Amino acid sequence: MNLQQRDAQHLWHPYTQHQTAAKPLAIVKGKDALLWDENGNEYIDAIASWWVNPYGHSNQQLAQAAYKQLTHLEHVLFGGFTHEPAVLLAEKLISILPDNQQKVFFSDNGSTAVEIAIKMALQYFFNKGEKRFTVVAFENAFHGDTFAAMAASGISFFTEAFKNHLLKVVRIPLPEKGSDAAAQKLQQVIDEHQPAAFIFEALVQGASGMQIYEPAALDKLIQIAQANNVITIADEVMTGFGRTGRTFASDYLEHKPDIICLSKALTGGTIPLAVTTATQKIFDGFYSDDVNKALFHGHTFTANPTGCAIALEAIKILQSDEMQANLKRVAQRHHEFLQRIAQYPQVLNPRTLGVILAFELKTAENTDYYGSFRDKLYNFFISKGVILRPVGNSIYILPSYIITDAQLSKVYEVIEEAIHKFS
Ligand SMILES: Cc1ncc(COP(=O)(O)O)c(C=O)c1O
Repeated sequence: MNLQQRDAQHLWHPYTQHQTAAKPLAIVKGKDALLWDENGNEYIDAIASWWVNPYGHSNQQLAQAAYKQLTHLEHVLFGGFTHEPAVLLAEKLISILPDNQQKVFFSDNGSTAVEIAIKMALQYFFNKGEKRFTVVAFENAFHGDTFAAMAASGISFFTEAFKNHLLKVVRIPLPEKGSDAAAQKLQQVIDEHQPAAFIFEALVQGASGMQIYEPAALDKLIQIAQANNVITIADEVMTGFGRTGRTFASDYLEHKPDIICLSKALTGGTIPLAVTTATQKIFDGFYSDDVNKALFHGHTFTANPTGCAIALEAIKILQSDEMQANLKRVAQRHHEFLQRIAQYPQVLNPRTLGVILAFELKTAENTDYYGSFRDKLYNFFISKGVILRPVGNSIYILPSYIITDAQLSKVYEVIEEAIHKFS
């Protein structure tokens, strides 16, 4: 039996209806932007393996950092203990994050980073004795699959089975150019509900198909929230570490969020690690001689030293001249490709920011999130040796920054072929 057949015996995959889904591709090797399956087929990973991998698969520099740390201090508990990799990483993150960020809370993945952010906001008001229980979030948001993150997420079929068990979330529309509807709705929700927090994917809604919105519009929403003492939470799990062309999407903003969630590219896409960072004001809301006012949240692998050491190395790579040049190169190539496809009437809402490029493909077919049109596109791209995961009829590219010009050209070519073949 090959890996694919053995997988079917015992494995249960994420977001997968096992009765109807195609068998998963068994990947045996990765190098830079390429992956190889067990039959020797080569693929360009044009979505950086669910948006985690900015510096290439099997990166030697990250592997060496992992080895060095694993053979020095692989792990130690973080309750009542600390260690150099966590201290160094916290210092580094605080030096590159917006100036108002002062405290770093570790966890393991994007969902838990968000879960912690929401718990911080709710308990901040609980500790003060203020009755603020509601969270404001965007329509069609995605913040993860744990309960609070799921509640904040607005893609309905992800959360339908749990809707009677979720915390109270009120939705506002994503800002649209030239419209004040989102700001007006936020003010109305604040007046009616006195929410504890406003959470948003900063500048790009990833899972709903890379919907991009304007920094000025987000600035206005943050300003309204902060003027009304609502804690603002930037979910930068996908956008963090260069994706939008700046280190963080929040770098485009004048009004800085109170809490920031990071994961995915934090360790260069190697092992799970996440942080929820906060201002001094949020931290002070928990600082007390009353033990019950502490944030009672923690995970066994909190601040895992190996993860922290890799993350430090990953930030070094991001800040290198070479990687900054790569970021600019990919953004420029995307820009040129965008101009090219924008001329096709079947390409709707073409957009790009940093290394992200997306558009909707016009079709009369079923455009459900995991619908038949999406499957056709997905299978076509795989058959051409390119890994892309369309969302309904939204096609997006989010490659690692080290993807070569030739590989990018191939990704563009197969997308252009799909534009002609499927619309
Ligand atoms: C913006 C955002 N937040 C949170 C998450 C959840 O992260 P994880 O899958 O690591 O739990 C994701 C995952 O795609 C995401 O895109």
